[in-house]
Amino acid sequence: MRRADSVNKIKKSCEWKALFAEIGARIAKSMVFWGLAAILASSAYTDIVKLGSGTAADVPADGGNVQGNLEEPKRVAITFDDGPHSVYTKELLDGLAIRNVHATFFVVGKNIVGNESLIERMDQEGHLIGNHTYDHVKICDMSGEAACEQVEKTSALVREITGHDTEFVRPPFGAWNKSMECSFTMIPVLWNVDPLDWTTKNKDLVVQRVLSDVEDGDIILLHDFYESSVQAALQIVDELLGQDYEFVTVDELILE
Ligand code: NI
Repeated sequence: MRRADSVNKIKKSCEWKALFAEIGARIAKSMVFWGLAAILASSAYTDIVKLGSGTAADVPADGGNVQGNLEEPKRVAITFDDGPHSVYTKELLDGLAIRNVHATFFVVGKNIVGNESLIERMDQEGHLIGNHTYDHVKICDMSGEAACEQVEKTSALVREITGHDTEFVRPPFGAWNKSMECSFTMIPVLWNVDPLDWTTKNKDLVVQRVLSDVEDGDIILLHDFYESSVQAALQIVDELLGQDYEFVTVDELILE
């Protein structure tokens, strides 16, 4: 056998070995995959069985019962865009404080200037402060960089006053750019109940529109930039408290 042949044979046998090794690895991988799938399927099955066979033994030891769990309070988040407004936001904060209700404010950066004390109050009185851009702009029409700047400028102002950033953003006109890559992460928040309060000065109409539409888990959209909206908001709060609704901030509704 010539040396070249021998090298060739070794090479070929290496190829075969490599091939067998690869087939072996693939079989092993698929065994691991199907093994995991089987484990997951059996645990899911166990969960289904558990769900399907609730018995008296599942009742928590703290005295809660299935009936009690069904009667959890209805929760709703009331949110205000476009402020702060030197007169109406103050009125609203006073009204919410008396009722011990927490709201979420999506503030416009340029409106913070001169109203810093209202931002401070929101923070100290347990409200959540969200971001509604600096100039109330349609973010999806802007370049990524300009859009990020709109959000960051407002966040910086809030941070200066309260010591923390705004994590939640309500994009003006509901138009958010999902692919926006900013150096910070924002959670976009929309709404379920929109009485179009900015289109009317009729407080009762706004109240009626909200009350006829609202359900457990909803996010109500209003604007603390108009007197009629603020009056409507406080009446809505009173009505919903009377219907055993609990008011929570948007983060409590979304993250829990
Ligand atoms: Ni707005």
